[in-house]
Amino acid sequence: MSNIAIVGAGHVGVVYAAGLAELGHRVKVIDIDRRKVERLSKGSIWFYEPGLPELLERNLRRRRVSFTTSYAEGLARATFAFICVPTPTTDDGSLDDIYLRKAFDEIRKHKGRPAPIIVNKSTVPVGIGDALAREFANELTVVSNPEFLAEGRAVDDFFRPSRVVIGSRDRTAAEQVAELYAPLRAPVVFTDPATAELSKLASNAFLATKVSFANALSQISGAVGADGEKLGQVLSLDPRIGQGHLRPGLGFGGSCLPKDLAAVANLARRHSASADLFSAVAALNRGQQSRIVDLLKARLGELSGKRICILGASFKANTDDLRDSPALALARQLRELGAEVATFDPAANGALHTMARGWLSVARSAGGAALGADALVIATDWPEFASLDYTRIRQVMRGSIMVDARSIVRADSLRELGFEFYSFTNTEHSNGSTENGSSVPGTVHAL
Ligand code: UDX
Repeated sequence: MSNIAIVGAGHVGVVYAAGLAELGHRVKVIDIDRRKVERLSKGSIWFYEPGLPELLERNLRRRRVSFTTSYAEGLARATFAFICVPTPTTDDGSLDDIYLRKAFDEIRKHKGRPAPIIVNKSTVPVGIGDALAREFANELTVVSNPEFLAEGRAVDDFFRPSRVVIGSRDRTAAEQVAELYAPLRAPVVFTDPATAELSKLASNAFLATKVSFANALSQISGAVGADGEKLGQVLSLDPRIGQGHLRPGLGFGGSCLPKDLAAVANLARRHSASADLFSAVAALNRGQQSRIVDLLKARLGELSGKRICILGASFKANTDDLRDSPALALARQLRELGAEVATFDPAANGALHTMARGWLSVARSAGGAALGADALVIATDWPEFASLDYTRIRQVMRGSIMVDARSIVRADSLRELGFEFYSFTNTEHSNGSTENGSSVPGTVHAL
C-alpha cells in the first residue's frame, strides 16, 4: 500500500483516485476548487462516467480516498504525486503548460520528506518531462506516465489498460511506478520521457486518422453502393489494421483527439517536418459536418426558418462532455444559415441548458426535439436512439428527412415508416438521389 497524492480533480484525477484506492492505496486528491472538493468528499461527481460513482463511494466509505484544497495536507505523507491537471491548447495548437508548472511549484513548496516521485499523467508538451527533471534535478524525480482513458469507459480502461507507458531517466523510480500497476497485469513499456509524452499524442492522432480514413472511405463506398458497415468489419478483422475507430460518422470530437492531433501538427511544423497528413485528417473531420449541411440544403432549399432536430449533443455516447462536440458544431453551422435547431441528449441536457441559451432549444425528450422538425439528424451514437418510437417521431415531424450520422438505427425498419433516410454506411441509391435526381420517402440513401 502506498500513499498517493493526486493533483487535479478532473476526469482523469477522479478516475485514478478511485481506481488506485480500489487497488488498496491511500489516495489524497488536491484541487484548488473548494466546491469541487466539497462535492467529491460526499461522493457527488459532476460529470457522467458509468461505474465511477459506485467506485468512488465504496472507497470513500473505506476511507481510502479523500479530497482537499491544501497541498500541505495532500502531500504530507505522499510517496507519489500524480499530476492530472489540464493542458489547454494555445492558438497555434501547442499545449499550454501553465497549470503543470503551477502544480510543480506547489509540490516543491509543500512536499514532505522524502519528496514524492512525480508521476505526470497530464498530456504535456513533448520534452517537458526532461526539462523539469533538469530544472529540479536536486529536488524531484519525474516520471512521465500518460493516461489512455476513454470517456464513457474510463473505469474499465483503468482496470484493464492495453499498456502502461513509463518514461523516466531514473530506472528505480520507473520501477516503483510500474509496481503500482502490477495487479492490473498490463504490458509495461519503459522508455525515456519524450517517447512516453509523444506516445500519448501519437496514439490519439492515429485514432483520429483512422476515423478520418473511415469518413473518406464512406464517400467512395456511398458512391459505388458498397455497404460501409461490412467494409469496416472486413478492415478491422485484419490485425494489422485493428479494431475500433473505423466507423464513419459526424466526425471525431471531445477533449483529446482534436487537441492532440493539433499538438502533433504543431510539433511537426516546429521541427520542419511534414504536417500534411495531420492537416488532411483535421480537414476531413470538419468536412463531415458540411456533408450534412449540404445535404439538408439540397433537400430543403433555403434553411432559414427550417426546423432541424439534432439527437445527441455530447461528443459521443456515454458521456455528458460537450467539448468539441461534432453535434454542436453541426448545430452552429445550421443556426448560422438561419435554421431553428432543437436538440435532446440523454446525459448532457443539464450542461446544454447553460451553454445553449438563446441559440439552441433543448427538449426534454427526443420526441420533443422532433416536434415540427423538417429533418432529424442522429448526431451522437447513444444506444437508446436505436430503439426510439420512430412511428411517433415521424408523426410529430413536419418533414420526413432522417439522417443517421452515426449508423445506429436499422435503415430497413425506418424506411417502412416513410422516412427519407440517409446514412454514411447504408446505401440503396447513391448520392442521395434517384435516377431522375429526386429523392423518395421510404428509401435509403448514401450521404
Ligand atoms: C480518446 C482516446 O480513445 C483515449 O485513449 C484517450 O486517453 C483520450 O482520447 P475519448 O476522447 O474519450 O478518448 O474518445 P474516443 O472514444 O476515442 O472517441 C473520439 C471521437 O471519435 C468521438 O467523437 C467518437 O464519436 C469518434 N469516433 C470514434 C468515430 O467517429 N468513429 C469511430 O469509429 C470511433
